[in-house]
Amino acid sequence: MKYAFITFAIVMMAAALSSSSNSHVGALPRRLIKRAVTVAQCFTGLPTNLAFDDSCKDLFLPGKGFRAVTSITLAALDLDFSDPDPLKIILSSPDMKVGVISNLPIPITGTRQDVTLVDNGVNIATFSTPWVPGVMKGNLLETTVGSTTLNVNDTQRDQFSAFIASLTINTEHNFTLKGTVDVNFTLPTPFGTPVVTTITGIYFESIVTLKGFANFPDIQFVELIEKTENTDNSFTIKSKVNIKSASQLGVKMGDVQFHTFDAVSSEAIGVTVLEQLNLVPGDNFIIAVTTSTSATTKPQDIFKRVSENGEIFRLEGFSASSTTDPILSNGIAVVKTNVTIPALNTAAPAA
Ligand SMILES: *[C@@H]1O[C@H](CO)[C@@H](O)[C@H](O)[C@H]1NC(C)=O
Ligand SMILES: *[C@@H]1O[C@H](CO)[C@@H](O)[C@H](O)[C@H]1NC(C)=O
Ligand SMILES: *[C@@H]1O[C@H](CO)[C@@H](O)[C@H](O)[C@H]1NC(C)=O
Ligand SMILES: *[C@@H]1O[C@H](CO)[C@@H](O)[C@H](O)[C@H]1NC(C)=O
Repeated sequence: MKYAFITFAIVMMAAALSSSSNSHVGALPRRLIKRAVTVAQCFTGLPTNLAFDDSCKDLFLPGKGFRAVTSITLAALDLDFSDPDPLKIILSSPDMKVGVISNLPIPITGTRQDVTLVDNGVNIATFSTPWVPGVMKGNLLETTVGSTTLNVNDTQRDQFSAFIASLTINTEHNFTLKGTVDVNFTLPTPFGTPVVTTITGIYFESIVTLKGFANFPDIQFVELIEKTENTDNSFTIKSKVNIKSASQLGVKMGDVQFHTFDAVSSEAIGVTVLEQLNLVPGDNFIIAVTTSTSATTKPQDIFKRVSENGEIFRLEGFSASSTTDPILSNGIAVVKTNVTIPALNTAAPAA
């Protein structure tokens, strides 16, 4: 048992030495060695304490040199805005990869985290994850984030909307996840069964890059479902569109409204509702309902034009786009995208 921990401590010491040996090479050896000895002491204290004490936890803080987590990659991230409380968003990630320091000799078996989401230097939201199993593959810890509530900081609503806006209009967005992670791992013993240990409160901080929606450059008209012209000349055009998403985000937004214009002349056409706008990576077949409004000056002309020749519609978000969630609405108000509508008289209605 003792032997295992000493071996372990030596490997940790090596890891600590190698983790920042690329910076300030000449000036550091003594400090590095001192720190490595401290790290080793922290780890040799584990079998009796089963937790790091505060001075050991400090080693993981930024600038203290022992960076246990080197990267976080979210291959998928799902956000559900359907809770009536706009400050509560349900977050989950079925595929999270945490890069850890090389040579970390601990076979991690499970993790949980307390996380703060930092965007442009501001703490905008927090979440805590329950214990989930994790599997170490080389330097990567493969794990998941089960359904958990992302709590938007009440004083940072606008910054959270700006975060959503950036993911909406850009091809990628960088932000920071920081916090503490608790890990379960099995320590090998030279004789007998491995010991399962939990270390709590290991500080981490990592930049995360997510692909954004890039202003939805690829909305394709799929088919006309129905078109109706009323006796007062108002009209409704209901169609199916495909929104292709290159983002790894899954976002549940509910019905979202967009002001709709002729893309060439900017003449007001009306409003388009994208019904149950729940986006996943890849194809998203969505029902789009465009109706004329009081802002539409000559609805009969537009209806005739779209029916006979087709038209490019420009959809624009506005801050009341989604009535259910003001934070989300402000985030997607920035959308400006074109949809090419073919001549509807020859676009076959859905069978
Ligand atoms: C991790 O260990 C804790 C006890 O410290 C236990 O409650 C939890 O279920 C374990 N979880 C996993 C996934 O290993
Ligand atoms: C919320 O934002 C305020 C103002 O920036 C900040 O002081 C506070 O720490 C944040 N809350 C959390 C939980 O991060
Ligand atoms: C995000 O970070 C990556 C890696 O650090 C960098 O290559 C990329 O340019 C950054 N993107 C933006 C939009 O800042
Ligand atoms: C939308 O279409 C108009 C008219 O063809 C064009 O000027 C504009 O650049 C297009 N916008 C986008 C984002 O493709």
